[in-house]
Amino acid sequence: MFATFASNEAGDRIRLLMKAYHIAVVGATAPVGQELLRVLERRSFPVSTLRLIGSARSAGKSFRFRDQSIPVQELTDRSFDEIDIVFFSAGGEISRKYVPVACQAEAIAIDNSSVFRMEPHVPLVIPEINAEDARRHRGLIANPNCTTAVTLMALYPLHRAFGVRRTFAASYQAVSGSGAEEMKMQNEGRKIMHLPEFRASVTCVRVPVYRAHSVAVNAEFERPVSVEHAREVLAKAPGLELVDEPQNNRYPMPLSVAGKDNCEVGRVRVDCAFENGLSFWVSGDQLLKGAALNAVQIAELL
Ligand SMILES: NC(=O)c1ccc[n+]([C@@H]2O[C@H](COP(=O)([O-])OP(=O)(O)OC[C@H]3O[C@@H](n4cnc5c(N)ncnc54)[C@H](OP(=O)(O)O)[C@@H]3O)[C@@H](O)[C@H]2O)c1
Repeated sequence: MFATFASNEAGDRIRLLMKAYHIAVVGATAPVGQELLRVLERRSFPVSTLRLIGSARSAGKSFRFRDQSIPVQELTDRSFDEIDIVFFSAGGEISRKYVPVACQAEAIAIDNSSVFRMEPHVPLVIPEINAEDARRHRGLIANPNCTTAVTLMALYPLHRAFGVRRTFAASYQAVSGSGAEEMKMQNEGRKIMHLPEFRASVTCVRVPVYRAHSVAVNAEFERPVSVEHAREVLAKAPGLELVDEPQNNRYPMPLSVAGKDNCEVGRVRVDCAFENGLSFWVSGDQLLKGAALNAVQIAELL
């Protein structure tokens, strides 16, 4: 069953100019799925119809989208019939089994799980960094790990300016996130930044913060780096805000980025342990840039 939308004026105008899409969300009842609905609505994504999918446990529940109540349907092999884009957000096992079913039904899958991220033929995309990779998709695009996404939002612009050689990082992850595998930052970072030599030594820790991840990064660069030049680069980076006034107690905090699209970077210092070293602290909402927002941005590229 589909829900069809006639919604706010701005959204209607956008849908008139653009094709509107048949969208499905697998895992619609969980934190990332719920955030996906809010992001699709907030960004006036051209949704023609929306199908919310969960397990048998949730069949019959309903959620609001653009002033309509939409029932959740149980996931089946027919869930992707007549769907253009499907967001997978129900964990690895569901993605492993149903992404191929969605591709078979000619839906484009955007997958939040880690199952397909390192497959060579699957683009792994952060739109601010490697949007062009999305063009070579074959029906599936992977969304990066949440801590990797938040870190690379600050590391990549610095890499463009100074050439990153290696990083040491410690993540402070919110309880609403899931997973802590520490090799993801190196492996996914190499693929997203097209930087096969990139080395990352990472320690992930779960902290008593409800929402938003933070990462302390020590990075070594090929070229000399000054704090002033690094601040200039970071201040101009898309999707990122420089919050770096320690004298006024202003620096990125999970509390200030929770519910916010942009990541924040601050505490930018020379790292004396490296020749061309820089330390910084980056915070970002792992349900938004680390999941739902990035997934919708990928859909917007399509
Ligand atoms: N949480 C985060 O901060 C975060 C951040 C970035 C990425 N991610 C990734 O995003 C994905 C979603 O994470 P999440 O924390 O929102 O949810 P989750 O706990 O990984 O998954 C729960 C969702 O999966 C559905 N589900 C479970 N078994 C199912 C089945 N047999 N058939 C159909 N649906 C089934 C659940 O539906 P029911 O309610 O019906 O059981 C629910 O909607 C995961 O791959 C996760 O690794 C999570």
